[in-house]
Amino acid sequence: ARLVVVISGRGRNLQAIIQAIEAGELAAEIALVISNRADAPGMQIARLAGLNCVCIEPRGFNHREDFDRALAARIAAARPDWVVLAGFMRILSQAFVERFEAKLINIHPSLLPLYKGLNTHERALSNGDARHGASVHFVTPDLDDGPLIRQGSIAIESDDTPDTLADRVMVEVEQRLYPAALAELVAGRVYFKDGVVWRDHGLQ
Ligand code: GRF
Repeated sequence: ARLVVVISGRGRNLQAIIQAIEAGELAAEIALVISNRADAPGMQIARLAGLNCVCIEPRGFNHREDFDRALAARIAAARPDWVVLAGFMRILSQAFVERFEAKLINIHPSLLPLYKGLNTHERALSNGDARHGASVHFVTPDLDDGPLIRQGSIAIESDDTPDTLADRVMVEVEQRLYPAALAELVAGRVYFKDGVVWRDHGLQ
């Protein structure tokens, strides 16, 4: 399967996907990495791994739709089976989402439907939650609202701060969850059709 990975920041999820592919745990290749920020540390991870990468910066465009169209064109040219948002910090227009419907995947650092949007770790802590984690989901036009593919969670410790919690969710949940969810998608065990998620549990 061909993946296009779209990032904005540190690229720790990208790193985990690269490692899963190298370890033979994810039968995929990364055709292209796209960042909307030239200074994203994740671009260095992509370069070091020898991946094709390109930066498309929003400031070159007057309207959100123009940026989204340029992004969509680059993605489509790479002929992906899956478009993997991995810490991409922009909201995508409905036209973009519809163009890649059923192949557009995101990871969000909360147990959705809890805590859509930003500052998820802080919100889980201040609500006194016992557990916190991350969700991989199909992207629909509503922010962080698409149907779930997989979730993972950890116990919140009494001395957690937003930073320690964010780090543990990244290392203990996200970096395992995203490659595992992508492996299920690539194997055809989960798919999105007619607005719902279907799971093929096999013949056992
Ligand atoms: C992750 O927590 C991801 O869930 C969120 O943004 C963060 C990106 O981290 N959407 P990285 O760029 O993968 O290191």
